[in-house]
Amino acid sequence: MKIIVTGGAGFIGSAVVRQAVREGLEVVNLDALTYAACLDNVASVSNAPNYSFVKCDITDRAAVDAVFDEHAPDAVMHLAAESHVDRSIDGPGAFIETNVMGTYNLLEAARASWAAQGKPEGFRFHHISTDEVFGSLGETGQFTEDTPYDPRSPYSASKAASDHLVRAWHETYGLPVVLTNCSNNYGPFHFPEKLVPVVILNALHGRPIPIYGKGENVRDWLYVEDHADALLTVLRRGELGRSYNIGGENEARNIDLVQMICALLDRMQPRESGSYADLITYVTDRPGHDARYAIDPTRISTELGWRPSVTLEQGLEKTVRWYLDNEAWWRPLLERDGVGNRLGTKA
Ligand SMILES: NC(=O)c1ccc[n+]([C@@H]2O[C@H](COP(=O)([O-])OP(=O)(O)OC[C@H]3O[C@@H](n4cnc5c(N)ncnc54)[C@H](O)[C@@H]3O)[C@@H](O)[C@H]2O)c1
Repeated sequence: MKIIVTGGAGFIGSAVVRQAVREGLEVVNLDALTYAACLDNVASVSNAPNYSFVKCDITDRAAVDAVFDEHAPDAVMHLAAESHVDRSIDGPGAFIETNVMGTYNLLEAARASWAAQGKPEGFRFHHISTDEVFGSLGETGQFTEDTPYDPRSPYSASKAASDHLVRAWHETYGLPVVLTNCSNNYGPFHFPEKLVPVVILNALHGRPIPIYGKGENVRDWLYVEDHADALLTVLRRGELGRSYNIGGENEARNIDLVQMICALLDRMQPRESGSYADLITYVTDRPGHDARYAIDPTRISTELGWRPSVTLEQGLEKTVRWYLDNEAWWRPLLERDGVGNRLGTKA
């Protein structure tokens, strides 16, 4: 099977690329290499005969068409996106361009390619989305696949729009699609502007560890390699036109997550005195910060037999170990535009 993976130089896309190449799929990694990309993420597979890379911006319809013409894929796994909520608050335009218009371009290119190939039944357009499209939960309840959409940030609104386009292309044109909406990922190769790497790297530098608001926002944390495994499971066995929620079965308040990371660092690389938790500093909350996300994973577990393989404790330990061992990966990324600065304050 030949798949085009969009956003394969990013955090989750690169985990998908690494696993898919290892499993013997023919992988074309399509990525524009924005500030969030890093080709080192796929260095472990980049010499494999079943891997290739093409630099392409999904907002450029002609360029996307050319890639599909050249490769005639059996499937597309669409992960390319602007993905940082704080950046979407300061500059929503890029989120509309890439997440909405880019998805439209891909759908049209995929539809043309699928038609040119004689509309094979096995063709798949797999759209990778987020649980943030469902909005914010109170203290109880979980998102199911039938939860009404209620996006509240420019990022989640742009992802919700792209989900609607994908469903419409299935209903209207019969394009064989599957969708997934997953919770917060963490793990190796996570760009150092997101919460988990910010905590680890600020701690290691002895800098304040910022917690938005009171740190009571709850997220369901999913280890990125488990997510990649779930995505490949849905690609192969998901029912056409259906969406699957993917969670880690690991709900935690931000403050508890940060305390867990500090405790791991205290054990694995102790400070000269005191705990890393002494660096925790409460800062002004993000505007419109969703209180709680939680995933009901019943559909993917009962229909496809998929469950996460690690607990939050196990996944965080692997992640902290990885950052301790891979300074050569993260050090240069700290110089990229906006990294290390408080973003999302322009509301
Ligand atoms: N990170 C999470 O916790 C999370 C949770 C749920 C869903 N998602 C979704 O998963 C996908 C991947 O997320 P991520 O965290 O790996 O993102 P990321 O920001 O780490 O990577 C995004 C990748 O897309 C590429 N890209 C951006 N704009 C592009 C364009 N116009 N053309 C081509 N490539 C472009 C970037 O260069 C980068 O390599 C996104 O669609 C995101 O919405 C992420």
